Amino acid sequence: MGSFAVVNCAELVTLAGPARPRVRAEMRELGVIRDGVMIVRDGVITYAGPARGVDSNIDVIDAGNRVVMPGFVDAHTHPVFAGNRADEFEKRSSGVTYKEISAAGGGIRSTVRKTRAASEDELFCAASRYAQWFLRGGTTTIEAKSGYGLMLEDELKMLRVIHRLGPLRTVPTFLGAHEIPDEYRSNRQEYIRLVIDEMLPAAKKLAGYCDIFVEPHVFPIDDARRILLAAKGHGFKLRMHVDQLENSGGAQLAAELDAVTADHLEHTGAAGIDAMAAKNVQPVLLPGSVYALGSKRYPDARAMIEAGLAVVLATDFNPGSSPTPSMPMILSLASTQMKMTPAEAITAATINAAYSLELGAEIGSLEPGKRADFVIHDCTDYRELAYFFGVQSAKAVYIGGVPC
Ligand code: NIG
Ligand code: FE
Repeated sequence: MGSFAVVNCAELVTLAGPARPRVRAEMRELGVIRDGVMIVRDGVITYAGPARGVDSNIDVIDAGNRVVMPGFVDAHTHPVFAGNRADEFEKRSSGVTYKEISAAGGGIRSTVRKTRAASEDELFCAASRYAQWFLRGGTTTIEAKSGYGLMLEDELKMLRVIHRLGPLRTVPTFLGAHEIPDEYRSNRQEYIRLVIDEMLPAAKKLAGYCDIFVEPHVFPIDDARRILLAAKGHGFKLRMHVDQLENSGGAQLAAELDAVTADHLEHTGAAGIDAMAAKNVQPVLLPGSVYALGSKRYPDARAMIEAGLAVVLATDFNPGSSPTPSMPMILSLASTQMKMTPAEAITAATINAAYSLELGAEIGSLEPGKRADFVIHDCTDYRELAYFFGVQSAKAVYIGGVPC
């Protein structure tokens, strides 16, 4: 693969720092090197620092006086699904709510019907298109969930599609407890039994994380605890959708079960934040879903940062609540709607996100020994990434030192 140097970086945004997620004021320290240089050998970073003489026998990539930074790590996505929900979007634009659509049989269940009917290759084709969207936005790693199959074979089909995606890096999560499918609406307990007895053991071969949609009308706390304890018994680590539509104590359950992350948290209050802080659960905030649902209730990012939580930002890319793969859009929402500074938002979207996937030693910053997953953005100041919005700023994207 050989060696190359990236030169003429207006800002080399390294995010170098302690080997752990960043909290409080550390979230504002991006390790920016003006006029920086990065050297890569065989896909791994060997130097990231001030400009210095570069061996004449290695290739040179001229960043053209632009920002160079780690690829975004999007730690919460649902990129495998058939069809889309533009029809429901139109209804919501006329005032019908997400909950009403779901109660009437639409929402997640409408995507489940289409995803079940699609072949693995059809799903792979659709997901590959979305993978390109992530790359073009400057994202180099995504966490990717199943959850639109809701029966054994279709959940496994989704997980296999996630494994086939590339060069975008993917981290698979099993989300069999995303909704109660049509055929078990009058027999919820039988669906839970199916998840516990049949899906968890089979999904473990294809996913390291288990997720669930904790909400009183979907999986209430007691059902969620039962499913998640079984998941832990099979060796899964936990990520959880909690307190999105109402506060049902989901953040406290995430703390009780030592989940790696608690995601959404729009309705989480002080008690939930304290519980997460006591157990180092990482909050994954998804402002794209608040924006797209028009609910205007953003999670309290400032309180979480003050409490010392290592906040993560992600897109929640999915066909219903958050149809965006754009991390720059998420940075904009974080700064304008949740009062995170651009630096805090970038930390949450790179190194903290990498730690939430237990990949902090490999990706998320530009430091010697890490994989050369980096992006040249068409700007000279990293703050522009959150400031301009609706712009595709990524000019060149590299994964493991290879251009994508
Ligand atoms: O994170 N809330 C549950 N799951 C997704 C939405 C999925 C869908 O609407 O298809 C979310 O918002
Ligand atoms: Fe989600």
